[in-house]
Formats: sequence, structure tokens, C-alpha cells
Amino acid sequence: MKYIISYVSTANPNTSRSDMIKLIDFIKYNNKEIGIAGILIYSDGNFFQILEGEKEIVKMMFERIKRDPRHYDIIKMLDKEIIEFNFLDYDSSFTIISDHYSQNKLQQFLKKEKTYNPEHYKSISYLTQKFMKLS
Ligand SMILES: Cc1cc2nc3c(=O)[nH]c(=O)nc-3n(C[C@H](O)[C@H](O)[C@H](O)COP(=O)(O)O)c2cc1C
Repeated sequence: MKYIISYVSTANPNTSRSDMIKLIDFIKYNNKEIGIAGILIYSDGNFFQILEGEKEIVKMMFERIKRDPRHYDIIKMLDKEIIEFNFLDYDSSFTIISDHYSQNKLQQFLKKEKTYNPEHYKSISYLTQKFMKLS
């Protein structure tokens, strides 16, 4: 079953910049290895992440991520089955977006959510727009 989980969280200020770069390199590598796609955005001390893949893998990864001391105050936004993947057709499958960077794929995803999941769309688009400071 295809599955999506997304959340926002607060980065632990004790995590150094070089540890953050190491983490991002690891995530890119590992997600490709285990078949997780999605995005991770870091902005002003907060993370926004979308994880897509087979249900068991995505759930297992989220459990692991939740226990990670490099962030806290995790607020789950989406946790549901999906008909098709939104991010799998990406070259690297997993994209890290840095500050103030508008991302086409995310915009396409939001557009789709608006059509198919209007009840989710409102909250997720509000948060991501704020997050990416697009509004
Ligand atoms: C904000 C954030 C997002 C993360 N996202 C992923 C991820 O998508 N994939 C991944 O393998 N690890 C991710 N991690 C790292 C995991 O929490 C964990 O450290 C890593 O999977 C190694 O797990 P292990 O020490 O149990 O082997 C993330 C960590 C943080 C703080």
C-alpha cells in the first residue's frame, strides 16, 4: 500500500551546522536505499518533511524520526494511504529544500491535494506557505 506521512518539527538548537549537513547527506543516501521519497525543508529552525513509500517502511521511518533528539515538538499533518506517489519520479527521489526556495514539485502536490483532498489541503497549504514564506 502506498503511504504518505508529513509533519513539522522544531530543530534542536544544539545540533551543529556540520551535523546537520551530515544528517542531510545520510537521509538522501538512506532514503534512496530503502525506497522512501519526499522532501525535507529546513527553515528558521523548523523542519517540514513529507515521506512517501510503502506503508510499513514509511511508518517505521517516522517512528525512528520521532525519537531523534535532533528535533522535537513534532506535529503530524498527513498520515494516510495514497493512490499514487507524488515524489517518486524525482531524479534523486529525495529533495532537500533550503530557506526561501519555492519548489515546483511541492506546488504540484498541493494542487493535487486541493482537488482530491480539499479537507487536508487547507491546513497543509497554510502551513507550507508560511513555512516557505511564499505568501
Ligand atoms: C528532521 C529529521 C528528519 C529525518 N529524516 C530521515 C529520513 O527521511 N530518512 C532517514 O533514514 N533518516 C531520517 N532521519 C534520521 C533518523 O531519525 C535516524 O537517525 C536515522 O534513520 C538512523 O537511524 P538509526 O540510528 O536507528 O540507524 C531524520 C532525522 C531528523 C532530525
